[in-house]
Amino acid sequence: MMQRETWATRIGFILAAVGSAVGLGNIWRFPFQTAENGGAAFLVVYIIAVLLIGIPAILAEFVIGRRSKQSAIGAFDALGRPRWRWVGAVGVLAGFWTLSYYSVVGGWVVRYAIGSVTGAYLGDPGTYFGAISAGPEAVAFHAVFMLVTIGIVAFGVESGIEMATKLMVPSIILLMLGLAVYAFTLSGSAAGYEYFLSPDFDALVANFESVIPAAVGQALFSLSLGYAVMITYASYIDRDENLGVDGLSIAITNTFVAVLAGLVVFPLLAAQGVDYGSEGPGAIFVTVPTAFADLPNLAARAIGFVFFFVVFIAALSSAISLLEVVTSHLVDSYDVDRKPIAVGLGVIIFVLGIPSAWDTAWLTWFDLVSVNLLLPVGVFGVVVFAGWILSADATDELGRGAPSLRGVAPVWLWSLRTIVLLAVLGTLVLSLGSLTAPPL
Ligand code: PHE
Repeated sequence: MMQRETWATRIGFILAAVGSAVGLGNIWRFPFQTAENGGAAFLVVYIIAVLLIGIPAILAEFVIGRRSKQSAIGAFDALGRPRWRWVGAVGVLAGFWTLSYYSVVGGWVVRYAIGSVTGAYLGDPGTYFGAISAGPEAVAFHAVFMLVTIGIVAFGVESGIEMATKLMVPSIILLMLGLAVYAFTLSGSAAGYEYFLSPDFDALVANFESVIPAAVGQALFSLSLGYAVMITYASYIDRDENLGVDGLSIAITNTFVAVLAGLVVFPLLAAQGVDYGSEGPGAIFVTVPTAFADLPNLAARAIGFVFFFVVFIAALSSAISLLEVVTSHLVDSYDVDRKPIAVGLGVIIFVLGIPSAWDTAWLTWFDLVSVNLLLPVGVFGVVVFAGWILSADATDELGRGAPSLRGVAPVWLWSLRTIVLLAVLGTLVLSLGSLTAPPL
């Protein structure tokens, strides 16, 4: 066997996990999902889902990864439960599937970063988005985004991933804070806060069978759960780390960035007089550039570039994690060199993403299958496996190297077996009900 890599530093692991969590899910997906699902009530369900399912489930993935020291599928073999390999397999499949359209949105971001330099979108961001989001140009930029992702994964865990994520989180928070403050000063923005922060529970009750799976799915997708990403990343850490602190800091940072994105998008939509749900997946790409358009031309281009460049880094560090799951599974199982694997996989994923780049209806459908089918099945598997199959071993692993967690571990296990399991099961049923046929 080749020597298995590990994270250079503990902060390297946390940054990479945060890098995976914070991405287009927070900045692109969260705002338009909130807008399409009634605003503040969606936010409430989202936050409950992070606390109730997300944090216990992220710890479950950490425990599986760290105890087995193996990636996605091999982890279950190493733990002596080969019949549970399907949980890892769902993750690997989901990563493959998800990266194919995630990269298309990543391509839009690259296009916008370049469009900022030339000032291309400043005249009319809405029309610009329509022109670049589907068709040959979208395919080309999807290719560019995949190429960069492949390059980083080919170089391996330490040199590639840790470096790319170090600067991203602080920059994204600073930029979003700046935009949120700016949005606050605009006249007409107040209605946006009302929509985003003041829940209408009657509407939630009326539409619970679509709003709940959407919000829970968003929460778990945003934490990169169900895709074996956190299993794989935790397989690279040393024993003596406090997984509870890691999981909490990741969940808090991740939720903070999503809420910030909402505090940027909703006041901007309100101030610009646009209907909340009407922009769909284009929301962030239309509102933020429209806000820049008020600035002097040169400043607009500069700030636009910095903004989309940082979003690009955020997208990249998530895309890397998706490709890493599949790559490291093959590297671990067949003891092969990671470079040709990363390249071969990347090419297949690129081809799989062409329909999504050609027509946004396909992108939406790929996203639906990912978040409403693969994800809940994967998370369900993780929760049952950690709660019922690993059981005492899981509690033992959580407490390892962290005396303060030993008291909490049994409570965590108990919650996995009861509340978390029921919540995931309920979501799974509702999610399956929200699936639709492909847009053929
Ligand atoms: N969590 C990432 C985001 O919010 C997306 C992602 C999902 C990455 C699943 C890896 C696995 O953008």
